[in-house]
Order: sequence, then C-alpha cells, then structure tokens
Amino acid sequence: MKSLIVANWKCNPETPKGAKLLFNTVKRGIKNIKNVEVVICPPFVYLPFFQKKIKKIEKIKLGAQDVFWKEKGAFTGEISPLMLKDLGVKYVIIGHSERRQILKETDEMINKKLRAVLFTKLRPILCVGETEMEKRKEQGLRVLNSQISRALEGVPEKEADKIILAYEPVWAIGTGAACEPNSVLEKKLLLQRIFRKRYSPNISKKLKILYGGSVTPENALSYIKEAKTNGLLIGGSSLKAKEFLEIVKMVSI
Ligand code: PGA
Repeated sequence: MKSLIVANWKCNPETPKGAKLLFNTVKRGIKNIKNVEVVICPPFVYLPFFQKKIKKIEKIKLGAQDVFWKEKGAFTGEISPLMLKDLGVKYVIIGHSERRQILKETDEMINKKLRAVLFTKLRPILCVGETEMEKRKEQGLRVLNSQISRALEGVPEKEADKIILAYEPVWAIGTGAACEPNSVLEKKLLLQRIFRKRYSPNISKKLKILYGGSVTPENALSYIKEAKTNGLLIGGSSLKAKEFLEIVKMVSI
C-alpha cells in the first residue's frame, strides 16, 4: 500500500536559499522511489518557489501548515484556502499541537478550518494527540475522542472521506521520545471507531491515519509495519534531506 509521508518544515529553513536546496535534494532523491507520496509543507512564503517544480513530479505534492477559514476579507495576517489552492497546494495541516498550544487555537477554530478546507476541495490533515499530563492521568483516549468529535461537527458524510488524521502525541513531538508502535496501533483503532460511530463503515475503512512525533530512520518502519498506519508526519527529520530520504526509501515497500 502506498504510504503518505508528510514533511512539516515548521518555521524552517531561515532563507529561501536553504529552502530551495532542501527541496531540490529531496526531489532528486525520490526520483527512483516507488509506492510513496511525499507532501512538502514549507512556510507559506516559500510555496511559490515550488509551485512549478511539483507540476512535473507525480510523487511530490505541496502542503500548507495552516490556513484561515474565510475566503477573503479584513483578516490581517491570514491566508485563505483559495489562495493556497491557487498556489498548487493539495494538503493542509490543521490543528497541529504547536498551534493549539502556542497560538491558542481552539477546537472551534479547528472545526472552521477543517470545513473551509473541505469546502475548497483541499485535503485536510487533522492533528490530534494528548499532552504528557493527559497521558499521565490516563485521559489520552478521552482527549482524542473530544478533539475529533469537535473538529468534525457539521462535516457531512460526503466530505468526511477526504480527511486524513495524524495521531501526534504532544509529548513525542520534537522530544526524541517517540511513541511505542503498539500504542499507536491502539490509537489508530480508536480513531477508526470514532469515525465508524459517526459515518458509514465505508468511510472508516478508507480513513487514512498517520503517525507523527520524533520519527527517525530507526523507528519509521515500525509505524507502517507494526502500527499499520498509512504514513508519517515528520518534523525534525524532514529538515535533514539525507535522513528524510532514508525514511521515504524505507517505507516504500
Ligand atoms: P517531530 O515533529 O518529527 O520533530 O517530532 C513532528 C510534528 O510536529 O509534526
């Protein structure tokens, strides 16, 4: 099965030169790799550099790290789904824990973003995950349930099959403390159950679930093989072309 590997560059690299170098190295490196789709999510300002380049490559798509929910208007600093679509973007990360925590994004905002992205016919990658404290209090399952239920409010069955979920335990992001594959599998089954309760069985069967949080070449394959996820959301390792390509090669089985 084709894996989806999403590179979340976050607020990196610092210069256009660095961004172009990283992109071109990845582009060259995946030429002969089959059975994988790579989504590069650079900072907004770098998106135009890659718009033309990805047109010629089947395997690479462009993604955005965030979006606003209105098409246009007086919303200082915001970027609309239509603007992203125009730049060749196909995927949008929504509800990343750094946005939830640092920028105080609420479930209500995430719901609006999700619906706007679906309406624009882009594919949302909805991030969910529990914090260290919630894990310690054994509230992980309840948190996932609540994050997903609130994000999905008002999302009809006919749009739900476009959603991709990323299970990203907050305590595993950028810490080197990756989640055990069996625990990821447990969360994957829970996420499918939540979808099954809301939508027809067909939707939950088609649902794509990714894992993210300290993914490295050492552990990447275990999330595909043991946790049976459909792919990975990668932060730190996506900034090192060699490491990232190693992961992509590894999962293209
Ligand atoms: P990480 O980040 O791979 O650096 O842990 C993952 C993410 O934040 O999506």
